[in-house]
Amino acid sequence: EKGPYKHFMAKETHEQPIVLADAFARYLAPHRSEVHLPEEVDFAGCERIVMVACGTAHYACHVAKYWFESLAGIPVEIDVASEFRYREPPVGPGTLGIFVSQSGETADTLAALRYLKGRGGRSLAVVNVETSTIARESDVALPILAGPEIGVASTKAFTCQLALLACLAILAARQRGAIDGAGEAGRVEELRALPGLMATALTLEPAIAEIARDVSHARDVLFLGRGPMYPLALEGALKLKEISYIHAEGYASGELKHGPIALVDEAVPVIVLAPSDALFDKTVSNMQEVLARGGRALLVSDAAGIEAAGAGAWRTLAMPRAAPLVAPILYAVPAQLLAYHAAVFKGTDVDQPRNLAKSVTVE
Ligand code: M6R
Repeated sequence: EKGPYKHFMAKETHEQPIVLADAFARYLAPHRSEVHLPEEVDFAGCERIVMVACGTAHYACHVAKYWFESLAGIPVEIDVASEFRYREPPVGPGTLGIFVSQSGETADTLAALRYLKGRGGRSLAVVNVETSTIARESDVALPILAGPEIGVASTKAFTCQLALLACLAILAARQRGAIDGAGEAGRVEELRALPGLMATALTLEPAIAEIARDVSHARDVLFLGRGPMYPLALEGALKLKEISYIHAEGYASGELKHGPIALVDEAVPVIVLAPSDALFDKTVSNMQEVLARGGRALLVSDAAGIEAAGAGAWRTLAMPRAAPLVAPILYAVPAQLLAYHAAVFKGTDVDQPRNLAKSVTVE
């Protein structure tokens, strides 16, 4: 039941600190700063990883691609399941397929899994529903432990998918000798800090709701991010489209001047996801391009980022400071709450948006 919340989406958004802590209790060793999985996953012998999913689960794969590549040095290909299954991609025994699905029943993701298995690839399922078809048909299945997700818009499943994928990337790095004990301990402690950071981010809800009131009047919205914040920009745009029916697009910040900047005027809010990290200055220079054209930019960063670059922005939102590994998980919160409150202001059906089903079991 919804408890004190008006919608399942709100309840599920607010459950994130608890379910993430539960997931880490399962996937991190209790008294050591190490990843510890209940089932063996072998990354040592894999030549490449292909990650296949749909919608929000695909964006989780997109974030994880950065982690597997930068932490473990494994080449990763990502694809949406409806494309993967029909383009006849080469697959061999050195290919590890990771199939990410909340429901575990998404038709295209299941078909992609069957395609990979039929060609001799190894398969790992990352699912919420442990009894699902995708879990049963994969060589190994790991649950994200998010608990039931009722709202059509995926929230806690996304962040729990990311949490488990981060653990897998750390494990892969260890197995391939790309990280030492101290490095692993550092990353694990960053993960352990995440539930507390999520709880802090959720306290920003009144400020986010204020911004959402303005955003709810927009016809078009752009989301920008670089590196692992690029898939977060895509996810923020998807959430907004899905439940508020506002047209939104996510772009890699560096792509702005290759087309989308033509859309920018004072009527188009541009939401810039830019934690203080190695790419911060680059993203901010893209934000300046928006401002120079009369655009309205919302800078979502931490206090240091806002201090450095907030002047001139239309609005700012000060997030807790987070390590680069966990920032993409943390920044899901403002993306979710912005979409949620924009939808509430518009009066749309948040939990059952028009034309959508929770689980897409047909092609
Ligand atoms: O159950 P799955 O994770 O396989 O579902 C995939 C997508 O249909 C799903 O993430 C969809 O994009 C969400 N409604 C987005 O909020």
